[in-house]
Amino acid sequence: MEFIQSIKQKFGIIGYDYALHRAIEKSIQVAPTDISVLVLGESGVGKEFIPKIIHQFSSRKHNSYIAVNCGAIPEGTIDSELFGHEKGSFTGATSMRKGYFEVANGGTIFLDEVGELPLTTQVRLLRVLESGEFIKVGSSKIQKVNIRIVAATNLNMIESIQKGKFREDLYYRLNTVQINVPTLRSRKNDIKLLFKKFSNDFADKYHMPPVKLTEESLKYLENYSWPGNIRQLKNVTEQISVVEAEREISIEKLKEYIPDNIPSISSLSRNDFNNTFIHDFSKERDFLYKILFDMKKSLNDLKNMVFQLIKDYPNNKFLEKNQHLINKIYGPIIHHQSAERKDNFFQIEHSSDSEKRYYNKNSNCNNKEIHKDFIKKEEIPSFSLRKKEIEFIQKALKKNNGKRSKAAKELGISERTLYRKIKQYGL
Ligand SMILES: Nc1ncnc2c1ncn2[C@@H]1O[C@H](COP(=O)(O)OP(=O)(O)OP(=O)(O)O)[C@@H](O)[C@H]1O
Ligand SMILES: [Mg+2]
Repeated sequence: MEFIQSIKQKFGIIGYDYALHRAIEKSIQVAPTDISVLVLGESGVGKEFIPKIIHQFSSRKHNSYIAVNCGAIPEGTIDSELFGHEKGSFTGATSMRKGYFEVANGGTIFLDEVGELPLTTQVRLLRVLESGEFIKVGSSKIQKVNIRIVAATNLNMIESIQKGKFREDLYYRLNTVQINVPTLRSRKNDIKLLFKKFSNDFADKYHMPPVKLTEESLKYLENYSWPGNIRQLKNVTEQISVVEAEREISIEKLKEYIPDNIPSISSLSRNDFNNTFIHDFSKERDFLYKILFDMKKSLNDLKNMVFQLIKDYPNNKFLEKNQHLINKIYGPIIHHQSAERKDNFFQIEHSSDSEKRYYNKNSNCNNKEIHKDFIKKEEIPSFSLRKKEIEFIQKALKKNNGKRSKAAKELGISERTLYRKIKQYGL
């Protein structure tokens, strides 16, 4: 116990939770071996401490420790980053470069977010794990390397395997020993300590007295679901420490920083969640809405562009070949050769019965009118998009207490764009 305590002190780990202690203990046990370790846990639980402990308590501690965030390296360069490349192996490879595996030879490499590795890189990694061999990009020379691999992920790897995103053989190779880092919601008793530690740290950093919790606000924190775990608690404590003049934080104040619409674990059945993977549903939904919103907008732009092309070049081969597809997309727009007018125009048939309108060669509409009609038709969804946009902006502003910079960040737009939209919609 004293030993664990000293490790926690050395690495700045706070908490007395049993599962946390178990994770530290396991790290120490596997450290002297070369067994590969897979660290699992939700985002923000503190997975990064584990490979550091393993490295420090291994015979490799005097050699390099390299942490690589696999999710942050672009797919096109990851092989070269990890395994190096030969001069001239691709455009821009002006000289030979050693990869992290070569640089960390004799030491430990921590592959964070390993679930994000592209499949081609997974093959290379499997080879290192199985035979200690790798080949630089653009080379044919096999190189040997002596490296300890610790990997981490916050993804559900079984799901990734089922979806064909992660190789099963690599998963079992990485997962010789599994270390699970517990969620914050399962460590209710540690919340008080963690808050105290963070508030003291931020008090030092910002030269202010530390913020304190009332009994009631502590209870609130303890019953919160913490989808972002300790990272989220740390961020919230920092925000409160900087912003609040009153240093005793009431539950009302706290609620301004932590929305209470996210269900706490106690209010939901454990079966509602898939193992330890619990999501912040409301954030996820908003995020998905935003993606859909962006996609819809791009799709409409694309549809308009194609429509314009069809209109301008009505006799092209593509149009002939893809008539059925075009009809399907435009609901349908039928390119039609008018016998009487000897020119080309479109028929637009609204598929919904209630607004069935049919422009045929006998109608006196011209392309312009049809186009107008098409645009009108497109206005129906774009009107609701506008409503959605207003709704999102309002939500984001409300959530961030009217702070435009934060709201803009959350909406994924610039502050200037947000300002323009606020003006435009008169919000
Ligand atoms: N027990 C703890 N005591 C003190 N600080 C902690 C503890 N656990 C985590 N932290 C802090 O929380 C933050 C998040 O931890 P870390 O980066 O290790 O999370 P993670 O599990 O790697 O998350 P992700 O999957 O998103 O990368 C860090 O600032 C870390 O110092
Ligand atoms: Mg991490």
